[in-house]
Amino acid sequence: MNLSQRRQLYLQRMGIQSWSERHLSPVDHTEGQRLPQSEESEWGSLENQVLSCLQCPLNTNRKQPVFGVGDKSADWLFVGEAPGAEEDRLGLPFVGRAGKLLDAMLLAIGFERNEVYIANVLKCRPPGNRDPMGEEVTRCLPFLFHQIALIKPKIIIAMGRFAAQALLETNLPISQLRGHVHHYGDSSVPLVVTYHPAYLLRSPGEKRKAWQDLLLALEESK
Ligand code: URA
Repeated sequence: MNLSQRRQLYLQRMGIQSWSERHLSPVDHTEGQRLPQSEESEWGSLENQVLSCLQCPLNTNRKQPVFGVGDKSADWLFVGEAPGAEEDRLGLPFVGRAGKLLDAMLLAIGFERNEVYIANVLKCRPPGNRDPMGEEVTRCLPFLFHQIALIKPKIIIAMGRFAAQALLETNLPISQLRGHVHHYGDSSVPLVVTYHPAYLLRSPGEKRKAWQDLLLALEESK
């Protein structure tokens, strides 16, 4: 199966039946490399801080914090909102239904899950999957900022309103944030906003727009 056929298959798995082909350069699959000792220990201490965090009331309901997963030197960083029930149970991000769709989205642009890094704005599950509260985001964001500083991604994909607004420090709605290349903080790291996979499961008609967002990101990452 060639790259184009593979992409077609993955798009079908995403629930997109047909699409107009554009010529994309193949993604460079650089294997995750061993990190220098000092970086490994910074990652270790950051993870310990997250795992023992008691800074907000979410610690009382969680089974465990969900730190993040993937290649710590990844070029692509995907950021979601907060763990759901499955993530809380397993301690890993995006392992439920939304995670399966995220996997299909990743494959559609040529990545296995372990070739990118996946993290959330909130590291602990809000009870009943309610929206994150402002104070929770404020307390938790420094962990994500620290992860970004360590990963040094070449591009960030913010999935959903909470990730987009938190990373871009804006209150603009996702409809106005999609379709443009933003930059993370004062850096030159491009940031592309797309819909959250859980929203795409509820509104499959929007998957086509999410695919356009991924193409925009691929174009930007060249
Ligand atoms: N939704 C998210 O935003 N993050 C997860 O890890 C799972 C579902």
